[in-house]
Amino acid sequence: MAYYRQVGEIPRKRHTQFRTPEGGLYAEELMGVEGFSADSALLYHRHLPTAIVDAVTVDETRGALAPNLPLKPRHFKTPALTWESSDVDAVTGRRTLFGNSDVVIGFVTATAPSPLYRNAAGDELLYVQSGEGVVETIYGALAVAEGDYVVLPTSCTYRVVPSQPMNILVLEATGHIGPPKRYLSAKGQFLEHSPYCERDIRGPVEPLSVDGEDVEVLVRHRAGLTRFTYANHPFDVVGWDGCLYPWVFNIRDFEPITGRVHQPPPVHQTFEGPNFVVCSFMPRKVDYHPLAIPVPYNHANVDSDELMFYVGGNYEARKGSGIGIGSLSLHPSGCTHGPQPGAVEASLGVDYFDETAVMVDTFRPLDLGEAALAAEDPKYAWSWARRGPDLD
Ligand SMILES: [Fe+2]
Repeated sequence: MAYYRQVGEIPRKRHTQFRTPEGGLYAEELMGVEGFSADSALLYHRHLPTAIVDAVTVDETRGALAPNLPLKPRHFKTPALTWESSDVDAVTGRRTLFGNSDVVIGFVTATAPSPLYRNAAGDELLYVQSGEGVVETIYGALAVAEGDYVVLPTSCTYRVVPSQPMNILVLEATGHIGPPKRYLSAKGQFLEHSPYCERDIRGPVEPLSVDGEDVEVLVRHRAGLTRFTYANHPFDVVGWDGCLYPWVFNIRDFEPITGRVHQPPPVHQTFEGPNFVVCSFMPRKVDYHPLAIPVPYNHANVDSDELMFYVGGNYEARKGSGIGIGSLSLHPSGCTHGPQPGAVEASLGVDYFDETAVMVDTFRPLDLGEAALAAEDPKYAWSWARRGPDLD
């Protein structure tokens, strides 16, 4: 996120003496990506950020992934995944929906504060479907609510504290997530054709300072999970500056790009990650050529699996498919998909679509996790032909 930000107290020059009121030295920490060659931040701690007193292996919770066999379009209902429990948290309560070597996608209905946690294997993107709360981080706190995307850089220690139950779609990448490069200038400013810009982004505004000793932090890393115990609470930063920090963008601030005829999915792109993209479909004026067909054409996205999370409005193009709010459809490479029968005719002359959806396109196939298998509607694949083995 090449957008400079400064929060709290920092010394006038980097890498110089910065003293506490008692006369001691604050501990400077550089958080940087791509080996000191890309964005970074300098954080100033009251205690040594290196001081750990224990490290233990934690059992993996993701479960095994199964290949998408037989290959077919699939539909999953996330409301079926809500746990009947009052102490599910946004980290350990994640249920695995899909995954490949680039990204693992999960879902959680979080009701309780999570443990302190960081993902050392890649950036995370949380999409808050509903509810609200606070994401506390070493950079400061972020108030989040419905429609917020939360970008958490690799190794950013955080925890999620819901004030209302939060439905969250979680993307755990094995690399970095950011705005599409084509929307950024060479120096990182959002360009005029970008559907969002710096004014739409929220970052921490003040440090979050917490006292505590022997504080546990759960760390996801390439080999699994480890729980560290820190001598002091990691939220001890008095100030920081730089271009690497957690940030929030609300989907309602995405300004749709429209045209006289149907616009391709890349106009909805909001983020890019390693071998995947994230797109936002928002309520919008639709195609205004006098002979336009507003719903999508049938399409075979031959190089990607397409995951669509339906979060608001109604879906005229999908009428008769069983798709509703909270549904996830998976249209894998190797299949053609498109509007349900009759949807093209029904869309003629329509000038506005009231739909909100988050799409994740992955360039490697997605395998299925336990949560997907638990929430699948087996009839979906046959919803275009209205004939098939699972229909009554
Ligand atoms: Fe599609």
